[in-house]
Parts: sequence; structure tokens; C-alpha cells
Amino acid sequence: MASTDAGVTGPTRARIEERTLRQDRWWLSPLATFVVFTAFVVYATVRAFMGRDYYASPYLSPFYSPCLGDCVEGASDFGQPFQAFPLSAALIILVFPLGFRMTCYYYRKAYYRAFWLSPPACGVAEPHSAYSGETRFPLILQNAHRWFWYAAVVVGLILSFDVVLAFRNEDKEWGHMGLGTLLMLVNVILIWLYTLSCHSCRHAVGGRLRHFSKHPVRYRLWTWVSRLNVHHGRYAWYSLFSVALVDLYIYLLAIGAIDDVRFF
Ligand code: FES
Repeated sequence: MASTDAGVTGPTRARIEERTLRQDRWWLSPLATFVVFTAFVVYATVRAFMGRDYYASPYLSPFYSPCLGDCVEGASDFGQPFQAFPLSAALIILVFPLGFRMTCYYYRKAYYRAFWLSPPACGVAEPHSAYSGETRFPLILQNAHRWFWYAAVVVGLILSFDVVLAFRNEDKEWGHMGLGTLLMLVNVILIWLYTLSCHSCRHAVGGRLRHFSKHPVRYRLWTWVSRLNVHHGRYAWYSLFSVALVDLYIYLLAIGAIDDVRFF
């Protein structure tokens, strides 16, 4: 629906002068989202464009996994088919995790509120007088979320593979575990919780069914995903922090600022 009558100034809406009648600190949540999300975007952009210090054997930064470009030795487990790519290897694969997060239903709510103020919070009038929702370009592209979900599953599998490899030492002998291994393990668990609690995942496993009773396996899966789905927003933030933390840890190792803590 695209109409200049559709906003809160439309003729069918109550004539209220105040932007909101809310008395609480409703602005705190969108402000926190704005600050944290901006900080992450700045950090991730800098790291993605750096093109170095993303591998400290046996740890590979999740921003650079899979490393398909002109990568440092040991970082590529799937070959280097884009070796001629002139920019940072992270940019080759960035579209998948970035597209997945940007089109996520939870993040959409968060950044529509914090960045577009559309609306900034429940019961707070938005500054825009027109509303077209996600029916036109570019926001209609948000509908691609389910396709990004399939890509995210592949990314999750690759990151899981990286964690398995992080149980080897620099000489590729099994039995190593350091703080990097632990951080990568926690990160991949959070990534899976985020990916499997996705609304598109819920639809993929249990959608379009007339009778759950005729599909007991899908019904069971749908029940599990539904339980996770309740906490999807939480997993969205936790996994955002963990992916940045793992990258930062590996960066500090790679530049020699710290040494890995070895458990065994
Ligand atoms: Fe958030 Fe799908 S709804 S990842």
C-alpha cells in the first residue's frame, strides 16, 4: 500500500499533537540498537576490507570462511577458485552472511526502528507520512530471506568444519584445544541457534502442511524450531557479538599482540 494518507497523519487517524503519549524510556531500545549495530558494521567493514590477519593457525576468522580468494597459507580448505580476485577474500563470501542478517525478520524490526524510525517504538508516531512497506524496490528484496537461509545453512556447516579443524595444532596433529578453539565452538553453537531459530527455517520444516498428524517428523522438527524461534532475537545478538569476538581474538593472535591460551 503506497499512499500519503497511510501514515499517522492520515485522515482516519486520531488528531493527537504529541508524538507519543508514552511516559517510559521507549527511546532506550532503538538507541542501544543503533549504537551497537553501528559499532558492529564499522568493525566488520574494516575487518572485511583489511584482507590480512584473519588466520592464526589453526584458527580461521569466520569473516573469511570459506577463504576462496588469494588467501594466506593454511587458510583455504576448499581451494582458491577466486585467487585472481583483487580485493579482500572476505568480500567474496560476504553477501551470504550479510544478506542473511540484513533480511532477517528480527533485524528488520530492529533496524527499521533504530535507523528509519519507522516507527521508533510501539505507540510512537513515525516521522514519515507515506508508507509502502516492503512492496516495492528495494525493500521487496527482503523476500529473498528464505534463499539466504539455505546459504546460511551451508555457511554454518563450513564454520562447524572450521571448529573441527581448530582441534588440531599448527602441525595438524589432533588433540589441541586452546581458547581460540573454545571461542570458535561457542560461536558456531550460537550461529546454529540463530540459523535454526529463523522464521524461514520454521516454515521450511513445518510450513504448507494441511495435517501435522500425517507428517509426524516434520511436526516434531517444527515443534523444536518453534521453541528456539521464541528466542530468535536473543540469538541474533549473541551470535553477532560472538562472531566479532572470535574475529578479534584471531586478529590479535595474528598480529602477535597476544598468545593463545592452551588447555591441552
Ligand atoms: Fe532472523 Fe531468519 S528470521 S534469520
